[in-house]
Amino acid sequence: MSFYEDKIFPYALDIALAGVKQTRIDVISQAQGRVLEIGIGNGANLPFYSKKATEVVGIEPCSAMVDMAAERLEKLASQGELALEMDQYNLQVGSGEALPYENDSFDTAVACLVFCTIPNTEIAAQEMYRVLKPGGKVLFFEHVQASGGMKRTLQKLFNPIWKPLACGCHLNRDTKSLFKDAGFRIDSIEEVDHPKMFPLFSSVILGEAVKV
Ligand SMILES: C[S@@+](CC[C@H](N)C(=O)[O-])C[C@H]1O[C@@H](n2cnc3c(N)ncnc32)[C@H](O)[C@@H]1O
Repeated sequence: MSFYEDKIFPYALDIALAGVKQTRIDVISQAQGRVLEIGIGNGANLPFYSKKATEVVGIEPCSAMVDMAAERLEKLASQGELALEMDQYNLQVGSGEALPYENDSFDTAVACLVFCTIPNTEIAAQEMYRVLKPGGKVLFFEHVQASGGMKRTLQKLFNPIWKPLACGCHLNRDTKSLFKDAGFRIDSIEEVDHPKMFPLFSSVILGEAVKV
């Protein structure tokens, strides 16, 4: 990883996503049982897991981000702000495209602003399907391609400039179709323009996909 990816991007991410705290709370507080968060980044969601979770496993390819997530965990624990005991959180360096977990071993998967960035999204969606138990849910909050109009044109235009600036993030992924193609049933979905996100990436999907 480069200096920019390790030392600048993680902080830029917190600033760029400062407005989505309430959305994070709404999504993450629903996670239950054994939970896997894919691309956990610097651990921005860690404060929002509730006692409904019995274990939170976070996987992330950037080791500098994992270190930051671990520091965040320590700080939250010292402030008494973690819902679970420290040993119920497990942070790991690794890729969403090759999950080092057993089949049918998680109750919930969290996909939070990550399918924009994963290089091989088809494989990652299949991996998420594989490790979830039948009936297990993906809780997703993803920014996606706009439904049409000028925003969609601008996303296409700016994507090549945006990608290197945002460490591989695409402005125009079709993540809903991706989940369906991997075999998930979409049980609930809101497709909205997030008022607190920068307009080029404010088209978001929020909801639940179930392993059938
Ligand atoms: C926009 S950041 C979001 C981080 C975090 N999910 C959040 O909500 O703040 C995208 C994350 O996807 C991670 N990522 C990139 N490639 C990945 C892969 N192959 N598997 C899992 N995560 C990946 C990046 O390292 C980065 O942490």
